[in-house]
Amino acid sequence: MRTPLVVANWKMFKTVAQAVAYVREFTGLVSGMDDVEIVVAPPFTAVHATAEAARGSRIAIAGQDLYWEAEGAFTGEVSAAMLREAGARFVVIGHSERRTKFGETNDQVNRKVKAATAAGLTPIVCIGETLNERESCETLRVLDRQIKTGLDGLTANQVAALAVAYEPVWAIGTGRNATSAQAQEAHAHIRSRLSEWFGAEAADACRILYGGSVKPANTKELVGQADVDGALVGGASLDPKAFAEIVAGSRPGRI
Ligand code: PGA
Repeated sequence: MRTPLVVANWKMFKTVAQAVAYVREFTGLVSGMDDVEIVVAPPFTAVHATAEAARGSRIAIAGQDLYWEAEGAFTGEVSAAMLREAGARFVVIGHSERRTKFGETNDQVNRKVKAATAAGLTPIVCIGETLNERESCETLRVLDRQIKTGLDGLTANQVAALAVAYEPVWAIGTGRNATSAQAQEAHAHIRSRLSEWFGAEAADACRILYGGSVKPANTKELVGQADVDGALVGGASLDPKAFAEIVAGSRPGRI
């Protein structure tokens, strides 16, 4: 059985003070929900303070990105070791906003995944098709390329330990989520490819999250699908009450 994983992606929202206040309120709201793994990804500036505020709780912290080199003349970048030291245990890699607004490629995603894994951070690797790709029936081919290149060179154990987030680009921040059938179809496809390329055990253990306009009202329906193991939540995660409802809706046996 895969433990559901629910991740808040705050994007470029929240100062240190706002992040700390959020964690104080949120920890109370999710106390007792031990059957869901909860991760919060603040902006880099708030990683350390959020990790300190979450200390002793079950909330783990993620970076929203990283750079693959250990250190050097890379102005503006942050390494895996720096994130770890600041208190992160996870890192989001290849988010569609990084891909579409900052030109990130599948090869770069692969370097980042390897750097994260080597440093002991758990990657949350984001993939997903644009509306244009969906309408031209390219979805599964796009996902194949993103997985094949993005995870190239990883061992079965490394794939088993990471999370993949399927986020159709047309569903992110639009209020228009994928239907549960669309999500399940994509997730089942992703898992079958993972099985083909990394073995059945790795595919069975790897958590595949859905992302794109997840909110309290659609969580149970989406996370209730056989191959949907949790959610990556943007907008709705900014409010601790809404995010706590999403965690509650992801609990096994309550779906
Ligand atoms: P959204 O964003 O929930 O606001 O659609 C999801 C994401 O970008 O990870």
